Parts: sequence; C-alpha cells; structure tokens
Amino acid sequence: MNDRNLNKAYDLAKEVREKAYARYSGYKVGCAIVLNNGEIVTGCNVENASYGATVCAERNAIFSVIAKHGSCEAAYLVLVTKTEASPCGMCLQVMSEFFPADFPIYVADEKKILGKKLLKDFLPLPFQKENLSKHGSH
Ligand code: THU
Repeated sequence: MNDRNLNKAYDLAKEVREKAYARYSGYKVGCAIVLNNGEIVTGCNVENASYGATVCAERNAIFSVIAKHGSCEAAYLVLVTKTEASPCGMCLQVMSEFFPADFPIYVADEKKILGKKLLKDFLPLPFQKENLSKHGSH
C-alpha cells in the first residue's frame, strides 16, 4: 500500500468526514480522490430530510472534481467510514463512468487504512456507455 500521497489523502478524507451532514443516519463518510496532477479533492455525505435526496461522500467528491476540471483523471481514492464499508452500488456505477476497472480504492476507518481493492472487485460488470448504443457511438 504505497500510492503517492496516500497518507495525506487518508488524513484529508478523515478531516472531511468530520464535516459530513449525517443527522439522520449518524453515519459519517469521507472520501479523498487523488488526481493524476497530484491534487486531492474531497467529499463527505450530505443527508436530507427526504432521505432519497442524500448524496454519498464518493459522488460528492467526484462531482466536485468534474465541477473544477470538467473531467476526472484520477490515480486512486480513499474512503473513510466507521466500519470499513464498501462504496455503495450507486457510487460504484458513477466511479465506473470515470475510472478504469483497475482503479484502486482504499478502505479505511478512523484508525488506519485497512485494505486496497480495485473498482472491478466491487463492481465487475458496470452498465457502460457502450451499452447505450449498439455501435458504441455515445
Ligand atoms: N454513504 C456514503 O457516503 N457512501 C457510501 O458508499 C455508502 C453510504 C452514506 C449515505 C448515508 O448518508 C450514510 O452513509 C448511511 O447510508
């Protein structure tokens, strides 16, 4: 486990996790995405009284990268939860839009980084843009 800036990304994911707006579940999540240019962009979960309007930490982080750069060229991400959780299916699908199948995902809790897996380990068969048209023109 030695991706560049991993400890820094872990610290930033822990830091942003503290800012999570998780008043309904009490379950705070922090995510840090390390871009290919070395920049680290973070996101936390933001819940809503209309529960389905909640957005996860990972998607908030990815959408921030897109808002800033118009693309998401990233090396890996770090996910911090209380319980060594996997990313949810919706976040994995969004990741598959921007990241390659062998994109590394580090899962961590407040104490340490617990493991490294690849996007394809969590979601081997995402729905892909190529599926939208027979000839892959989308
Ligand atoms: N959550 C995330 O932020 N990321 C995930 O991958 C799983 C779940 C959040 C959503 C909600 O605010 C809380 O965790 C409990 O589901």
